[in-house]
Amino acid sequence: MVQKLEIEGGVPLKGEVKIGGAKNAALPVLAASLLTEEEMIIKNLPAVKDVDTMLRVLKHLGVDYERESDDTVRMKAGAPSGDLAPYELVKQMRASVLVLGPMTARHNEARVSLPGGCAIGVRPINLHIDGLSRLGAEVKIEHGYVHARANGLKGAEIVFDRVTVTGTENMLMAAVLAEGETILRNCAVEPEVTDLAEMLNRMGAKISGMGSRDLRVEGVKRLKGIEYSIIPDRIEAGTYVIAGLITGSNITIENCLPKHLHALIDKLQEGNARIEYGNSYIKVSRSPDLSGVDARTTPYPGFPTDMQAQFTALMTQAKGSSVVTELIFENRFMHVQELIRLGANITIDGRTAIVKGPTPLEGAEVMATDLRASASLILAGLAARNTTIVDRVYHLDRGYEKICRKLGGLGARIRRI
Ligand code: EPZ
Repeated sequence: MVQKLEIEGGVPLKGEVKIGGAKNAALPVLAASLLTEEEMIIKNLPAVKDVDTMLRVLKHLGVDYERESDDTVRMKAGAPSGDLAPYELVKQMRASVLVLGPMTARHNEARVSLPGGCAIGVRPINLHIDGLSRLGAEVKIEHGYVHARANGLKGAEIVFDRVTVTGTENMLMAAVLAEGETILRNCAVEPEVTDLAEMLNRMGAKISGMGSRDLRVEGVKRLKGIEYSIIPDRIEAGTYVIAGLITGSNITIENCLPKHLHALIDKLQEGNARIEYGNSYIKVSRSPDLSGVDARTTPYPGFPTDMQAQFTALMTQAKGSSVVTELIFENRFMHVQELIRLGANITIDGRTAIVKGPTPLEGAEVMATDLRASASLILAGLAARNTTIVDRVYHLDRGYEKICRKLGGLGARIRRI
């Protein structure tokens, strides 16, 4: 399997790039197909490995599906043919845990492998398990699996100790078929969460409070099948914004929703980045006065942790210093050592990276450790002199569709080796 990417840096980009569907919206939407026996048609799916993995998990659970095209799938969750989401799939993608809520809600039983460790942090799922228990399920951990059993879930009030994206999504999908009312407090309000709630309401659910941290769900007996189109990927869009800025280029990012990226755009403009946008596009122009600005990752609408690595790479090319603080995950600076290998001037102090710039980057061989770290190394490689080789790019394919073709379309010299 091709593991490496080779990038000839120092080439300005130009033209337009189209953004695909959001990985982190597609995964819960696909899992929600378990909530109805009727057919679902999901459109604008990103062509990424994580979507394939979720479809394989769902197949294990009795969901029949047919790919109509690269970005469209027709699916039907008849009677469960199994209740197990196996370790070999869950270890590839911890978001497989998103089947726990819908499976327990519809079939009163689910067995999902506990997700193992992750490069960016411990990432426990205690809030998912506590939430399901509050809805009346008996949840046990047996042989590395979460085993949930219920006799019909019952509405309850759940207060999340901390904001959790997939935790909110899992409890939403459990509560829509629970008897009575559920109130979810301190919820995540990421666009992917709101998108899921809106889709569930189109399937016949009764959810209110979208966009606020308190969601109210009135349980219903059954949900219907619908046709649904996934929202554009704000993190993919943000990554191309940084690609334009770090190479001093004029490019346009199309088919995106800038309203989902305000924290990032505001921060970049604070650092003299030249960015204009409309309803569905972002125009990046060469920004010679790009300056260092500080950023702290927090839940939406704050600065997204999934843009931190890419932003840190950009700050190596900005004038002055920038303090980047990672408050969501305890180990999300693995890209820093690799950026230093390319010549960056960064020091780490606990959950803070202090970046000094601009420092010229020089191509070298570097190694990706996770999805967003691999994106940041590619961005740095585009800005570096000479050749950069990024190893272990399978991480990238989990969440970026056709990245070589898209960057190549903007004039980048990038290829798989
Ligand atoms: C989602 O992960 C995203 N994944 C992540 O994107 C993203 O980084 C993260 O939200 C934060 O925005 C998907 O949507 C599939 P959390 P999730 O639960 O839901 C702690 C990417 O690059 N926590 O909001 O797993 C947890 O450890 C990926 O596309 C508990 O302690 O993240 C973390 O420190 C990476 N107990 C914090 O909360 C729990 O039960 C926030 O995690 C759950 C979470």
